[in-house]
Amino acid sequence: MEFKELIRARRSVRGYESAVDHGDLVAILREAQQAPSWKNQQTSRCYAVESPEVLGKLRGALPAFNQNSSANAALVVTTYVKDIVGFGTDGPVNEIGNGWGAYDLGLHDAYLILAAKDHGYDTLIMGIRDASLIRETLGIPENEEIMSVIAVGTRRTEPSERPRKELDEVARFF
Ligand SMILES: Cc1cc2nc3c(=O)[nH]c(=O)nc-3n(C[C@H](O)[C@H](O)[C@H](O)COP(=O)(O)O)c2cc1C
Repeated sequence: MEFKELIRARRSVRGYESAVDHGDLVAILREAQQAPSWKNQQTSRCYAVESPEVLGKLRGALPAFNQNSSANAALVVTTYVKDIVGFGTDGPVNEIGNGWGAYDLGLHDAYLILAAKDHGYDTLIMGIRDASLIRETLGIPENEEIMSVIAVGTRRTEPSERPRKELDEVARFF
């Protein structure tokens, strides 16, 4: 898909017919790895959940509305390893601290959802989730910050309009 078309076609979808194919998911995660990161530290991590048994447990960490929205899709939990990106030998290099790890993960996840769209799938990033339950279910180590759960699958429902602000409101040119 042409890039301009791809970024317009990518939408948050809240109704899925089926989960992403395993081989496609591997390709999507590899493409997401091409995202830039601080000093190429690559602290973003993915926990891809496809098995019905683990999916059942993981869905328990989502509120009902996100469970409904992501039903039938595969789920990818994304995390970053803390205290590396944005840190030097003497601690944080500036006021952002671990915010830089979150920044890198956001870039990674942006690549992930665009790569998924390019492979013909839709996605939903879910920030409303129970991180403690996810950690326990997937055995995620304490040195990783759990950020999002991303549904990946084929769409059943069409997304509603989500207009963007006027550029003047969000950007200034000097
Ligand atoms: C960090 C983040 C967290 C989000 N969490 C949720 C969520 O928990 N549930 C949900 O339905 N949508 C969630 N969304 C989706 C946003 O609502 C959506 O991206 C926004 O309304 C713009 O719509 P679009 O993605 O279709 O362009 C989240 C998006 C982001 C980037």
